[in-house]
Amino acid sequence: MEKPDYGVDAPGVVRNFLIAGALSAIIGYWFIFLSSLSRIAWIGHPLLGWGLSAVGTSIFMILYSRIGKFRHRDRLLNLVLWTGKETVLDVGTGRGLLMIGVAKRLESGKSFGIDIWNQEDLSNNSVENALKNARVEDVIGKVEIKNEDVRKMSFSDAFFDVVISNLCLHNIYDEEGRTQACREIARVLKPGGQVVISDFRHTKEYADELQKHGIKVHLSKPLFFSTFPPLRIVEGRKI
Ligand SMILES: C[S@@+](CC[C@H](N)C(=O)[O-])C[C@H]1O[C@@H](n2cnc3c(N)ncnc32)[C@H](O)[C@@H]1O
Repeated sequence: MEKPDYGVDAPGVVRNFLIAGALSAIIGYWFIFLSSLSRIAWIGHPLLGWGLSAVGTSIFMILYSRIGKFRHRDRLLNLVLWTGKETVLDVGTGRGLLMIGVAKRLESGKSFGIDIWNQEDLSNNSVENALKNARVEDVIGKVEIKNEDVRKMSFSDAFFDVVISNLCLHNIYDEEGRTQACREIARVLKPGGQVVISDFRHTKEYADELQKHGIKVHLSKPLFFSTFPPLRIVEGRKI
């Protein structure tokens, strides 16, 4: 039976940490234990230390992508009070992790996903792979994917009952762009609708911007032991 594949987040970062960390650890080890240059053997300690922590970082990132993100998806979706009839938007759906998770909870609603398919943000990131996962997970009739940037969405005002997003908005590098994204999310959300955004940085900024647009928010503490990098959740409801 075919299995869905939701990819590895930030594959280039994982690869770079792994290669640079392994090299640094090997050179550090050589300086400390094998080199005859005993007077500069101390250089080996920071090299070995940094190398091991970089390799550890890449291993934790892979573990999050392969195991942790499924638990995190369920944690995010459990924050919503589902009726099964919602129209839902997953911002930066990638290979469909949240969009498909939502579709499984819907009876008559629709789960939309938007993305611009940045390759550096997720391995083999494409609309085809998101659709393939939706077919494998048997929810193809409940999803709709659009090639859209969150900063300028084509949906009409108050279109969605729920807007969710995981690890997307930090990929917008300028503050003005992230502000625009939050403004757009608030715009497409219905009054009474729920928003759940999870990310590893800028979450206070998202919370502040959403509040300005009539969304009452709660910002969680970083989830140190179950996500990597530690993620925080902005959860709110439009008044
Ligand atoms: C790290 S991936 C996370 C994918 C998915 N949410 C998950 O948790 O598996 C971030 C996604 O956000 C998308 N993205 C980045 N900037 C975006 C933007 N301005 N508008 C829409 N999507 C964006 C990337 O293409 C990528 O698919």
